Amino acid sequence: MSHPLEQLRAEALREIADAPDAQSLEALRVRCLGRSGSISAWGEQMKTLAKEEKPVVGKLLNEVRNAVTAAIETRAQQFRSQKETGALSKIDISLPGRASGYSGYSGYSGYPTVGYSGYASATNGRASLHPLTQMLERAIEIFRRMGFALANGPDIEDEWHCFDALNTPPEHPARNEQDTFYLPDGRLLRTHTSTVQIRTMQSAPPPIRVIAPGAAYRRDEVDATHSAQFHQIEGLYVDENVSVADLKGTLEFFMRELFGADTAVQFRPHYFPFTEPSLEVYVKSKALKKGEQWIEVCGCGIVHPAVFEAVDKARGDKAYDPEKWTGYAFGLGMDRLAMILFDIPDIRFFAQNDLRFLRQFA
Ligand code: DAH
Repeated sequence: MSHPLEQLRAEALREIADAPDAQSLEALRVRCLGRSGSISAWGEQMKTLAKEEKPVVGKLLNEVRNAVTAAIETRAQQFRSQKETGALSKIDISLPGRASGYSGYSGYSGYPTVGYSGYASATNGRASLHPLTQMLERAIEIFRRMGFALANGPDIEDEWHCFDALNTPPEHPARNEQDTFYLPDGRLLRTHTSTVQIRTMQSAPPPIRVIAPGAAYRRDEVDATHSAQFHQIEGLYVDENVSVADLKGTLEFFMRELFGADTAVQFRPHYFPFTEPSLEVYVKSKALKKGEQWIEVCGCGIVHPAVFEAVDKARGDKAYDPEKWTGYAFGLGMDRLAMILFDIPDIRFFAQNDLRFLRQFA
């Protein structure tokens, strides 16, 4: 006659194999292994056994417990995979997906459908990123690798952040009502993202290494290359002993990463109130459609001491002492970069939401 523990094991294993579902298996587990379960009860009984019986029964008890535990786990796993297979079998993976974005899509009629702004629902309902967003993501990725953090500021600005703090005097033409959008309360739509240079320095002491992408606004005549709203990526680096060489190295690396290794980059002297010296950056690359032409893509320079002084005055400290700190800044025209990169002939396409255009970037 076998030991009662062995009978218990045989019975439990049979019941486990016969368990019809996960719930009855769980009930069985409690009945055998639970605190007052049949196998656990044997643990208690051990105390009453004779000394020489204890090791033998103890060993058997362990074997039984392990065998039952393993059998329950195996059976539970069977139930789990049955459930998954069952769920999957109800999904017909050969069924074509339904178009999203707007309802009733039944092929392209030849007319742009406006009804969904922002990201374009460009290919049969599959959304894709707007070319400007794609451009922005590429640019951010390159600057990130060079250690730049992201900064931002408001589109509606005050004159001080847009002009005064950037060493741009009241008589400067950029401040003219004909060139800028003013609000009735005297605030304005920022004419460039350089405002974020000031905001960043107001909120944190040097060293600073940021890029600030965003929209800018001007009362330009709208044509193929001018729009009342356009986009820029501002850059600012402030540290000790920053030189034009650092600026050139950074922008050359950026242009070659973006347009290809054979891109030629040229720096030409220019004038901006907030930098001294100031430069304009031109690129030329055989890989681009425009081929041998030099194209202007960026304004930049070494931050003018007057800008640091304006920031310190607003901060009420000497955090940006121009005797100690130097920096470079740049402003990239994002629409321009995207037009070059994707060979887009007209800046107005970016805002027209025409699917024939947007689909080409899906
Ligand atoms: N803010 C200038 C513009 O919109 C571009 C620019 C030039 C930005 C030089 C800079 C800079 O940061 O240093 O035309």
